[in-house]
Amino acid sequence: MKRFDVLTIFPDLFSPVLNESILKRAQEKKKVKITIHDLRDYTQDKHRKVDDRPFGGGPGMVMTPQPIFDAVKKIKGRKKVHAILTCPTGKPLTQSLAQQLSHHKHILIVCGHYEGVDERVRENMIDESISIGDYVLTGGELPALVLIDCLTRLIPGVLGKEESLDTESFTHDLLEYPQYTRPADFRGMKVPNVLLSGHHLSIEKWRQEQSVEKTKKYRPDLLNKSPQKS
Ligand code: ADE
Repeated sequence: MKRFDVLTIFPDLFSPVLNESILKRAQEKKKVKITIHDLRDYTQDKHRKVDDRPFGGGPGMVMTPQPIFDAVKKIKGRKKVHAILTCPTGKPLTQSLAQQLSHHKHILIVCGHYEGVDERVRENMIDESISIGDYVLTGGELPALVLIDCLTRLIPGVLGKEESLDTESFTHDLLEYPQYTRPADFRGMKVPNVLLSGHHLSIEKWRQEQSVEKTKKYRPDLLNKSPQKS
């Protein structure tokens, strides 16, 4: 079974997302175990303080090393755990990075906050920092959920065949072809004839062409990538 541990100052943010739909089912089917840890449980002062002002001055607060060091050490124990910090300066999350990360059996996600985390945490306790995109959020909790969602659906047996992995967007550096369902004529808007033809080869060819067209139109940047991107 795959394991995720999450270290956060907002543990209550997680259960509404983790206890619905495919993520809920994956946990029930024992494909994944997700444990949320409250960082404040590892503080040593009576105010349960997790941040302080930056040395050298400047705005904002920095997460202090002590609670994170102690929590990460305790959660890891003697186990082999891949430790990830969510922060906007990390490696951008892509489908191919997700595929690489999916080989780790046990991942610990430390949710960053404020102006950042004391650099000694990153240097000593973290294997890699990950960003979910070039924009800044209020904290690393939503990115942690994005990462868990993205990696959980790659676990064999989590998706049914209705939610198949192999034709989806980004897998081959192309967006997925357009999909239609019933009715074939909705208020005068018709489904392309080829999809009603029952001719599998023509349908396959049409879908490939549409994939390329859609990618050219909406994500031309994907077409300029080499097949072996990181
Ligand atoms: N924390 C704040 N913004 C973030 C982002 N874009 N990715 C990951 N962690 C973040």
